[in-house]
This record gives sequence, structure tokens and C-alpha cells, in this order.
Amino acid sequence: MKHYQALFEKSPLAILIIRNSKIERANRASGTLWETSNIYNVQGKSIFELFHEESFEFVMPKCSKKEHFTTEGKIICTTNKTVDVLISNVTLQDNIGIVTYLTLQNISEQKRAVSENEKKFRFLSNHAEEIRENERTRIAQEIHDELGSTLTVLKMDLFWLAKQLQDTLPAKCASKMTTILEYVDKSIKTTRNLITDLRPSILDHLGLLAAIEWQVNKFKEQCDIICSLKLPKENPVLDSKCNTVVFRIVQESLNNIAKHAKATEVSISLISLKNSLLVKIIDNGIGMTKQQINATHHYGIQGMHERVNFCCGEIAIFSEEGKGTIIFFKIPKSITESCSHD
Ligand SMILES: Nc1ncnc2c1ncn2[C@@H]1O[C@H](COP(=O)(O)OP(=O)(O)OP(=O)(O)O)[C@@H](O)[C@H]1O
Ligand SMILES: [Mg+2]
Repeated sequence: MKHYQALFEKSPLAILIIRNSKIERANRASGTLWETSNIYNVQGKSIFELFHEESFEFVMPKCSKKEHFTTEGKIICTTNKTVDVLISNVTLQDNIGIVTYLTLQNISEQKRAVSENEKKFRFLSNHAEEIRENERTRIAQEIHDELGSTLTVLKMDLFWLAKQLQDTLPAKCASKMTTILEYVDKSIKTTRNLITDLRPSILDHLGLLAAIEWQVNKFKEQCDIICSLKLPKENPVLDSKCNTVVFRIVQESLNNIAKHAKATEVSISLISLKNSLLVKIIDNGIGMTKQQINATHHYGIQGMHERVNFCCGEIAIFSEEGKGTIIFFKIPKSITESCSHD
């Protein structure tokens, strides 16, 4: 018994013995945790004075059954400060009644470090997303201005040359000229597709709805899938960054359906609310497992989460093997101060 007494008193973890919602015994470390040198500021007090209301349920035994669990909770120090703690609860019945033994560990510092790291990670990933999108726009512009215009001039000059030589050119050369013109035409088409894939100008010029409609039509042309699209009557007024986020997530969702889903039907709907835009993409394909949804070596779904985080939106993916997939996300129409990444 003496040994247990020493263990109780000298433990670096705060230990409480609770009976009838009251602290029957508290060790020395409890004083340190509650920031008081007088142990009677803890011992003898009610749990309602010492714990944050969110944590009452973790310190009150719900029934007479034996319980043992560990969870995160909050205490209120004697200085009125709220502190995050890890609570281990063992509740049992002794010859007097129900008794709860709690050990508590201050985890404020760990929680602060985690949230600091999360903030840093979010900042970096948002920054990378911005760089990626700007770089895409820049490359699309460069290809359009340099390669695109050179190919157009080349086509015009070849036409001119073919016209000048049409009566004198041997048949073999004339047919070669036609082939060259066909190649130039093909290159112009490829260049246009490349530019649109990098950054559809339709998004900047005609807005989100036209860009989504264009994307869905392209998807329908490429896959033999019945596709329904429901759009709001007018273009929602969205921050340009949010516009890009919505477009990119719909694009990746459709890419995934084409690549993986084996679906026969897809429905896409956008609903414009006062301050946000709701987007739902449903397919009736093979669905996926939780591991696939959380796969770390694939970047499509991860990218969706990062993009949604980027503008402080929300995303949920519901899927089960053989039961299709639902991607549901909500994006605010404008990025608020609290969500600013500068
Ligand atoms: N709509 C879907 N239906 C069925 N499976 C899907 C669907 N979307 C994604 N998956 C599964 O989830 C996995 C992860 O998707 P994710 O988009 O992250 O990666 P990916 O498409 O394989 O590669 P990428 O990084 O090029 O996007 C896919 O490999 C696929 O197995
Ligand atoms: Mg993908």
C-alpha cells in the first residue's frame, strides 16, 4: 500500500480519484497541471469546476459498468486558462460505490506544434497550387504566342507557295505539298488542344459554367457514358481562384471516372447558394475502397482535398466497392480574410 501511495504522490502525471463527481484525492502533479501550489484547489472540488464542459462526459462514469478508455479533453486551470489534456479513465466499482481513476497529461504543446505544422503544410501546398496554375497559364500563353503563331504563318506561306507553283509543280511534289499542309494542320490542332488542356481560355473568357459544359462535352465525346449536367441559370460570381478550384476538381473527377470507374451513367450538378457553390458528381461505376480514397501514392484525390482546403471549402467522398462514387464539395464564393494565404 505504501508503494502505491509513493507512486501516486510522485507520479509526473496528474492522478485524480473521483467519486460522486467530486475529486476525492489528487496527487501533487495535479496541482502543477491546474497551475496551483495549493492541492485543495483541486482535491475536494467538483469536476464541473475543474473540467471544460466538453469533457464532462469523459470524467463522469455513465453507468456502473467497468470502463477504461483514453481520450483527449480540456481542463480549466485555477488561472482560468483552458489546457488540452490526454485523459485516461478507469472506472470501476469498489465496496463504497463507483470510483473513477483519472490520469491526465498536458498535451497543449504537442497540439500547438501539430496545428503549426498543419498551417505550414497548408501554406506550402496552397503556394504550390498557385505556382502550378500560374505556370500552366504562362506556358499556355507562350505556346499560343510563339508556336501557335509560327505554325499559322507557316500554313499561310505554304498555301501561298502551293498557289504560285500549282501549274508548274510536278505531280509528285504537289502531293508532297498536300501532305506537308496536312501535317501543319494537324500540328495546329494539337497545339490548340495542348493550350486548352493546360488552361481552357473559356474559363477566363466565358466563365465557369461554359468551361464545365465544355469539359463535360469533351468527356461525352471520349467515353460512352450517359451524362447529365445540371447548372445554375447564371454564372455564379466566384473568386477567380475558387473558379479554377471548381473546374480542376470536376476535371479530375471526370478523368477518374473515364480511367477507373467503368460507369455507364454520370451526373454532375452545381447548385449556387448565397455564399457558396455546391458541386455533386455521381457515377454508378465499380466504386472504391477506403484505401483507394486515401491512397498516398496517387495525387488526383489528394489534390482535390488540397484544392478545397486552399479556399477553405469542404469535400466528402462516398464510395463503396460495386456501388459507385459520390464526390460532394462546397466552395465559398469568395476567399475570406481568415482563409487568406498571404
Ligand atoms: N470514380 C472512381 N471510381 C472508381 N475508382 C476510382 C474513382 N476515382 C478514383 N478511383 C480509384 O482511386 C484511386 C486514386 O485516385 P486518384 O485520382 O487519386 O489517382 P489516379 O487517378 O490513380 O492517378 P492520378 O494521380 O493520375 O490522378 C485510383 O487509382 C482508382 O483506383
Ligand atoms: Mg486521378
